[in-house]
Amino acid sequence: MKHWTVEQIRSTKGNEKLPCVTVTDYVTARLADQAGFPLLLVGDSLGMTTLGFSTTLPVTLEMMLHHTAAAARGVNTALLIADMPFNSYQASPDDALYNAARFLQEAKADGVKIEGGAFRAPLVQRMTQNGIPVLGHIGLTPQSINQLGGYKVQGKTAAAYAQLLDDARALEQAGAFAIVVECVPPDLAQEITQTLTIPVIGIGAGPACDGQVLVFHDLIGFSDTQPAKFVKTYANTSELVQHALRAYRDDVLKGAYPAPEHTYKPANINLKP
Ligand code: KIV
Repeated sequence: MKHWTVEQIRSTKGNEKLPCVTVTDYVTARLADQAGFPLLLVGDSLGMTTLGFSTTLPVTLEMMLHHTAAAARGVNTALLIADMPFNSYQASPDDALYNAARFLQEAKADGVKIEGGAFRAPLVQRMTQNGIPVLGHIGLTPQSINQLGGYKVQGKTAAAYAQLLDDARALEQAGAFAIVVECVPPDLAQEITQTLTIPVIGIGAGPACDGQVLVFHDLIGFSDTQPAKFVKTYANTSELVQHALRAYRDDVLKGAYPAPEHTYKPANINLKP
């Protein structure tokens, strides 16, 4: 199977659902790619899932480039999009363009994701005109957590609902190939999905979206925090790994590991005269 293109992702709209999952490194990207996901996202949620931060704000450009490059080495067919972290695109459009290009040039990503609605449209347009595919992200935008005052459902008032619809339209017009809509009421996500001609990928946005994205560590039960209401946990990997680690530790303690089948043949060399 060939590598997915931005155009192919765009043309799933109205034809097939679009499953997406975040990845953080070579191993997670290889597993998700082998599982057949068309779209993978190196999300800055890796700041929490992998680096132990409590928000995405401490995640730097260099960290994201490092993780994206590792993920890219694990991908054969999926389109790989990298999150631009906080402070890598806010300060100036020139810096933003330069930093976005680094994801394609140095980390081998196929495009970038940036958070923000209509006010980001000029930047999205500039990036796409310069050959950088952009995935938009509206609704709950975790890099604005200090401004939003918590991880809350967005778009619940008439004004916020209308603003998010405008945001979605503006990003599409600016050239985004798809948008992520996070933590909004399902009827708003449905209206955005019906309004746009590009794929709308939901997370905590109900079933009407064109696609869904979940954080890798949440869906395999590898996170150490209580997952949000919208997360479906498909495996309890932490329990499985704990079980394996304890069994290994116990085997070493009681001398049961390594057994003969884990041991090379004796050299049988006698150096004594
Ligand atoms: O960082 C992330 O994992 C994300 C997804 C949840 C969309 O932005």
